[in-house]
Amino acid sequence: MTNKNEENISSGIKLSPGFASIFPNGLPESLTAVSHNLVVSDISNLPDTQLQTKDAFSKKWSLSNYESSDFTKALAFQKKWYLSLYGFESEKELARYLRPFKFILDAGSGQGGKAAWFAQLSPSTTIVATDISDSIIAASEYYKHYDNMVFIQCDIADMSFFPNNYFDYVSCDQVIHHTKIPPKTFKELVRVTRINHDISCYVYRKKALPRELLDDYFREFNKQLTHDDIVELSKQLTELGRILSKIKKVIEFPSIPLLGIEGGKMTVQRFLYWNFIKCYWNKELGKDTSILTNYDWYSPSQAFRYSEQDFRSWIEQENLDEVHFHSEQACYSGRFKKRG
Ligand SMILES: C[S@@+](CC[C@H](N)C(=O)[O-])C[C@H]1O[C@@H](n2cnc3c(N)ncnc32)[C@H](O)[C@@H]1O
Repeated sequence: MTNKNEENISSGIKLSPGFASIFPNGLPESLTAVSHNLVVSDISNLPDTQLQTKDAFSKKWSLSNYESSDFTKALAFQKKWYLSLYGFESEKELARYLRPFKFILDAGSGQGGKAAWFAQLSPSTTIVATDISDSIIAASEYYKHYDNMVFIQCDIADMSFFPNNYFDYVSCDQVIHHTKIPPKTFKELVRVTRINHDISCYVYRKKALPRELLDDYFREFNKQLTHDDIVELSKQLTELGRILSKIKKVIEFPSIPLLGIEGGKMTVQRFLYWNFIKCYWNKELGKDTSILTNYDWYSPSQAFRYSEQDFRSWIEQENLDEVHFHSEQACYSGRFKKRG
């Protein structure tokens, strides 16, 4: 490994101390410094579907403004959800858990809000925020005053610039199903997790057959659509969700097992949402976040869904111990310990 830190100093970029602690022998050859807290790996050879997914998220995040009240509300909602997805009783418990750690990897940080949360909760830990989309550039600028955060634009399926058994905690929240071969990405995440330490991960859950068919068909179809087409579609679906949500009556729907349709008591919007078409609407989070949520579903051409058995087979294959397992209609998630 050449000492690229010196090289970067000579090119005018003095890397932040976080990089020096993550890469004590200098920046690996495969990474290039862009600014004091941002380095990029070579992602010029991404397969087409991953490139489309990268562009979709770059566009999605460019629609979201850090200073808006929608961003603040969405982050507050996400933090609360994170605790239940990965088995932390409270933010205090998460802070206690994170504080002894030296390095944490947030794999697929999006706008970086959760990575910054970890950085606030555990000021002596270096948080490495990674993402394939250009959101990581915006995040590195927005959170530039955080001394304990560094940012890497990379494909989390290949982080060969990190040694084995490196991170004290790896968090991959709502990301892995967007990567090219998710079980392979999972293997890579486990590789960089330290022995006797945890990895948290979330996957989309398989839904009823009509919804799966529509989603699969659309993911192929969307490749010919423009960003604006999908934004327009997302607005229309948000409006559909909003109108359906006006029907407050809870109805008992029958199960139709051969189509994977689970019956039960729910509103019309929820029944259609889970079984036929994603038309997200959340009054509390607001219209813009609802539009972004629909966009997030319909724009990336890579978004795999899994059964509980599929997800559990990854955990078994990697020989992990279950610390916490969570399931809900949207997803499966959990925290798993890497065995020695
Ligand atoms: C739904 S967002 C979740 C962001 C964040 N973890 C959160 O919970 O708010 C999914 C993110 O995964 C990123 N992503 C997708 N494929 C990736 C890959 N192969 N490597 C790194 N990031 C990826 C996208 O760019 C996007 O920012």
